[in-house]
Amino acid sequence: MSAIRYELGSDQILTLTIDMPGQSANTMNAAFRDALSETAAKVKDDLDNIRGVIIASAKKTFFAGGDLKELYKVTREDARTFEDMVNGLKSHMRFLETSGKPVVAAINGSALGGGLEIALACHHRVAIDDDSIQLGLPEVTLGLLPGGGGTQRLPRMIGLEAAFPFLMEGKKVNPKAALKAGIVDELADSTDEMITKARAFIDANPKCQQPWDQKGFKFPGGAPHHPAMAQKLAIAPAMLKQKTKGCYPAPERILSAAVEGAQVDFDNGSLIETRYFAELVIGQVAKNMTGTFWFQLNAIKAGGSRPDGVEKETFRKVGVLGAGMMGAGIAYSTATRGIDVVLKDVSVENAEKGKSYSEKLLAKKVSRGRMSEAQKAEILGRIKATDSADDLEGCDLVIEAVFEDSELKARVTGEAEPKLVENGIFASNTSTIPITQLAGASAKAENFIGLHFFSPVDKMQLVEIIVGEKTSDETLARSFDYVQQIGKIPVVVNDSRGFFTSRVFGTFVNEGICMLGEGIHPSSIENAGLLAGMPVGPLAISDEVSMTLMQHIRDQSKKDTEASGGSWNAHPAEAVIDAMVNEHGRKGKAAGAGFYDYPANGKKHLWPELENLFVDADKARTVKLQELKDRILFIQAIETVRCLEEGVLRTVEDANIGSIFGIGYAPWTGGAIQFINQYGVRAFTERASELAKAYGERFAPPKLLQEKAETNTPFA
Ligand code: NAI
Repeated sequence: MSAIRYELGSDQILTLTIDMPGQSANTMNAAFRDALSETAAKVKDDLDNIRGVIIASAKKTFFAGGDLKELYKVTREDARTFEDMVNGLKSHMRFLETSGKPVVAAINGSALGGGLEIALACHHRVAIDDDSIQLGLPEVTLGLLPGGGGTQRLPRMIGLEAAFPFLMEGKKVNPKAALKAGIVDELADSTDEMITKARAFIDANPKCQQPWDQKGFKFPGGAPHHPAMAQKLAIAPAMLKQKTKGCYPAPERILSAAVEGAQVDFDNGSLIETRYFAELVIGQVAKNMTGTFWFQLNAIKAGGSRPDGVEKETFRKVGVLGAGMMGAGIAYSTATRGIDVVLKDVSVENAEKGKSYSEKLLAKKVSRGRMSEAQKAEILGRIKATDSADDLEGCDLVIEAVFEDSELKARVTGEAEPKLVENGIFASNTSTIPITQLAGASAKAENFIGLHFFSPVDKMQLVEIIVGEKTSDETLARSFDYVQQIGKIPVVVNDSRGFFTSRVFGTFVNEGICMLGEGIHPSSIENAGLLAGMPVGPLAISDEVSMTLMQHIRDQSKKDTEASGGSWNAHPAEAVIDAMVNEHGRKGKAAGAGFYDYPANGKKHLWPELENLFVDADKARTVKLQELKDRILFIQAIETVRCLEEGVLRTVEDANIGSIFGIGYAPWTGGAIQFINQYGVRAFTERASELAKAYGERFAPPKLLQEKAETNTPFA
């Protein structure tokens, strides 16, 4: 069966329905390419009998885009064949576009990437007006570019500037917004109306040519040589670099493809696009990003870390203890997904204050037209703010987010557990206390688990699920269901101090602070962090966390380590932190002074005194940027390997996704373990040994890494 159904009606309108056999969505793979090539040949034969063409889909979505499995496998050796293949595919679309007959896309569902590019190659686009439909070119988010003509057609349709957010940021829109942006031409309320409108366009436009194929075509918004546009384009690469820090080749190549392509005719522009596309496809960053953000994330979403054999649970009523910063966010994220929430604090006033956080976020959505007043009221109606534990009666799950205090946590556990439904789950959002220890206060430790959210909860997608010694597989599976029900990404870790994300995060900030102690200039440290691909420099993030909290966590860890007979290995960063807090009274951002100054009306800047206190002029002058970047990325990757080795982490997928979504580990790398794989496991291990010699044992390659290095086997 062909992937494209060919139906030429008695009215001479040809309907091409894309319906890839054996797939739930249409994708641009070999079967599609073959079908398109056959279809183009058939159209050529039938051309005299055809008045117009409608391209439609038999799936729920219009077209899902490129086949990532195929793209992922393309190597440098295949580059030439790959280019030929892409150009071949594009030539068939181009044939339909230049046949003279009107071609209309009937967009019944989401059209992303290659799917939207097919629609852009049509002369007219009618989309069903349904807000759940997404239109966009998200290739850039996987390190790729829209290689099916998107970088050429979209700028020629709506102008370079208007096209950039779609091309370079992967912006997605619903049909209404797409109409406004000029990406679709008409909306329809139903499939019938869509087809009627498509036919009407064909009737009204018996001959069709794209604007860019017509003589005297004027580039909307101005071609690159237009003085106003030339001025903007002169600074565009610098502005882009400011965002990408040079870590992401895709947006840079997209800019080049669009602007260079805009200076030649369409067909040459299309060739330019293919060249850049091939370069990205075979490049390492696209492999890293596609591997992690597509394959590994999908494996997690498909329940890769969820124990088998437990029936999927739908949560109806969740209790949240503590309506502070975290509790308020958890309540919001839960209620917006249709779950009833009991938000309990020590007073109704406190609880209401936590609820007002949801009110504020929802009001913003209403004011932006993303939500109706009625929807907002419905969500708020689901949150019951209370000071009484009795209201927790009948909860399927209770999550505590009270102060970080073991005794208090034990007390609220005892209070809430009896109110749970039979087999209900009690979860702690602790950031530092081992779950096994907290479970000691539980009457049912097998139903006790850690659900570690990140701040701000409404924005951060990750939840680290922490399995205590006694936590049952069933509790883990059902907690996994809750995290997915509220639309977040679950990673599963075993109990350990700092769990996974906080442990690795700690190595990042400590490494940065330690560099300052060595005499390296603070600006160099912050820049090295950003240029390595971290979202924030290590000193800035230390201020956000607060150095007093860092001291507190360190002191607690030290006490616990020594109590269990171990000896504490002081990190060189500790002396710097102590000096900052104890000698200079600079605790961090909340206190108004840390590594940075926070002027009341102005931008924050590094505290000038750091230079006198710490900087060693010789060191600051001679240190190599690559050395600093390596230290920042290596120390976190090494700690991640330790977590795998100790069984704190269970899978490489969780390691990569957890490191990026939890602590912002440079996304271009595909995560802390993929960074090692792409560096080469053996090469990474050798470099780690060099760093260990220069900076200390913390860089020493763990055993697991050494074993893998022997055979140069990537982590899988
Ligand atoms: P917070 O100080 O903003 O809120 C704690 C709330 O708990 C307060 O509203 C307090 O009135 C309430 N509370 C105290 N005793 C209570 C009781 N007996 N019953 C009900 N409520 C009670 O603290 P935050 O930042 O929200 O942290 C809460 C927990 O989440 C802590 O365990 C913290 O370690 C953890 N966490 C914090 C993160 C952060 O970024 N702040 C990130 C991840 C976890």
